[in-house]
Amino acid sequence: MKGIILAGGLGKRLYPLTKITNKHLLPIYDKPMIYYPLQTLVDAGIKDILVVTGGNHAGEFLRLLGNGGDFGLKHINYTYQEGEGGIAEALKLAEHFSDGQKIVVMLGDNIIEKSIKKQVERFQSQKEGARILLKKVNDPGRFGVAEIRNKKVISIEEKPKRPKSDYVVTGIYMYDKRVFDIVKKLKPSGRGELEITDVNNAYIQMRLMTYDILDGWWTDSGTFDSLLRANMLVANKNLKGLK
Ligand code: DAU
Repeated sequence: MKGIILAGGLGKRLYPLTKITNKHLLPIYDKPMIYYPLQTLVDAGIKDILVVTGGNHAGEFLRLLGNGGDFGLKHINYTYQEGEGGIAEALKLAEHFSDGQKIVVMLGDNIIEKSIKKQVERFQSQKEGARILLKKVNDPGRFGVAEIRNKKVISIEEKPKRPKSDYVVTGIYMYDKRVFDIVKKLKPSGRGELEITDVNNAYIQMRLMTYDILDGWWTDSGTFDSLLRANMLVANKNLKGLK
């Protein structure tokens, strides 16, 4: 299975921190943000990885990550997203790299505590379709919110005013090769982006979506509050050994 990290976009919600660098290069405790999703994929047994970057500082990813030696990799693939047309637009750029195989996609600003190895293995043995990882949170309206009935996700709403549940879709998505046909048919949303939630709803409509609940803590880090939270969660995890 191949892995894709989406680290494009302009990180406007973190301005001026992102005026002179890319959001995914900002520090989370003792490492740059991009290290965390990369380590998560490597720990799940995924070695063939594409990083999608963008903005004015894309070259810095090469300087930082090189061929992935710090992660035990021999090679990392890179591609470049012009502008910030949305998560699904960034994903489009991975079609050639994916080469018809199943993929695990992780957003570059998502940070998790535990391994996703067993969920990835479940998707490996899933015949077809997609798999998402959900997490119960206190502030669902900031995310894609899953409506669950009879242990099935029946719809996902992006940043709803009145969330139908406390379960949100984390930025870890597993897809079969159909995903590239789906993204080609997408239309921009109200915020002018190709939405990953529309991709997931297409799989739900085809009855090809499964899910797991993510173990351990999860956070994004794309706003000042969530960036601080990510730093505190990682610091707390690292300091635990010292107590
Ligand atoms: O963190 C999980 C949430 O991520 C999901 O619950 C939502 O359904 C999903 O839409 C997304 O929400 P955000 O609005 O928080 O996504 P954001 O625009 O902050 O983008 C998250 C990452 O996706 C970003 O760190 C890099 C990548 N991205 C984003 C955009 C807009 C790209 O690679 N290219 C892009 O154009």
